[in-house]
Amino acid sequence: MKILITGATGLIGKELVKLLLAKNHSVHYLTTAKSKIANQANYQGFYWNPEEGKIDENCIFRVDVIIHLAGANIAKRWTNAYKQEIIESRTLSGELLFNLIKKHPNHQIKQIISASGTAIYPESFSKVYDESTTETEDSFLSNVVKKWEESVNRFQVLGIKVCKLRTGIVLSNKGGALPEMIKPIKLGVGAGMGSGKQIQSWIHIHDLVALYYLAVEKQLEGIYNAVTPNPVSNQELTKAIAKTLKKPLFLPNIPKFVMQLLLGEMCYLLFSSKNLSAQKITAAGFQFQFPEIEKAINDLYA
Ligand SMILES: NC(=O)c1ccc[n+]([C@@H]2O[C@H](COP(=O)([O-])OP(=O)(O)OC[C@H]3O[C@@H](n4cnc5c(N)ncnc54)[C@H](OP(=O)(O)O)[C@@H]3O)[C@@H](O)[C@H]2O)c1
Repeated sequence: MKILITGATGLIGKELVKLLLAKNHSVHYLTTAKSKIANQANYQGFYWNPEEGKIDENCIFRVDVIIHLAGANIAKRWTNAYKQEIIESRTLSGELLFNLIKKHPNHQIKQIISASGTAIYPESFSKVYDESTTETEDSFLSNVVKKWEESVNRFQVLGIKVCKLRTGIVLSNKGGALPEMIKPIKLGVGAGMGSGKQIQSWIHIHDLVALYYLAVEKQLEGIYNAVTPNPVSNQELTKAIAKTLKKPLFLPNIPKFVMQLLLGEMCYLLFSSKNLSAQKITAAGFQFQFPEIEKAINDLYA
């Protein structure tokens, strides 16, 4: 199969490309950086600039599936300008692809699988939310997810199956949230956040890319939570990291107002509580390699 990936050069994309190439699929990818364009038999890069509406039209040639991961990183200070970039990098990019495919009715694209976020769900410490939930949260990031998903849903009118993976915190040792949590713990000054009771729905990067693969193989449609069946509290996550690194945790938790002063509105990422079900993806036949937090952290950092 030929798979077109947007955001292929990021944390998840790089791991996904490795898996797809190992399974003998061929990858096209769109990048905003001309310096990242490779031209190999099974791995070919194409330039695009969603903000300027530019795209190399050859990117969809003989493509069967699109995996849409592109988006400005949310872990940077949320200024008004950057908030706009967080939204538009996801919606304008989808729109550009949509218009390109519409222009080429002879395309052979059957499915688009898009990354999505868990921020859309209401805050919860105890109630477990699944994909059928219609209640949503009213926050900046939740609204980003709504617009992002709406822009992907449009592909259905082109006869393309749409699958959205609402992804929890991705655990990797190469980037994302985990290395940032590890730094202070390694230095012996680690601590939980606030009450530490907020629930963090997470997934090991290897499970996540395996889930993308399953979505391609089974041509999944609709929304799926990309989270393990065992979410943990922030305190439990902090403790699991400290245990793996054999570091003590003796400091009191950091109050929310301190992080608010340091990070501004972005401290949402540390304090929001999302308690999500993995039932639907498990029922679709997915088997987690790292369902438990200690096993996942051990794999990445022991
Ligand atoms: N990592 C997580 O914990 C997590 C959790 C939930 C959801 N997600 C979502 O999953 C997707 C992939 O995550 P990731 O962690 O792999 O992200 P990442 O490492 O930040 O990579 C995202 C990629 O998107 C492209 N990009 C960045 N800014 C862009 C812009 N303004 N316009 C178009 N493309 C842009 C970049 O590719 P080029 O430089 O090649 O253009 C970049 O490599 C993201 O949409 C993210 O929000 C991630």
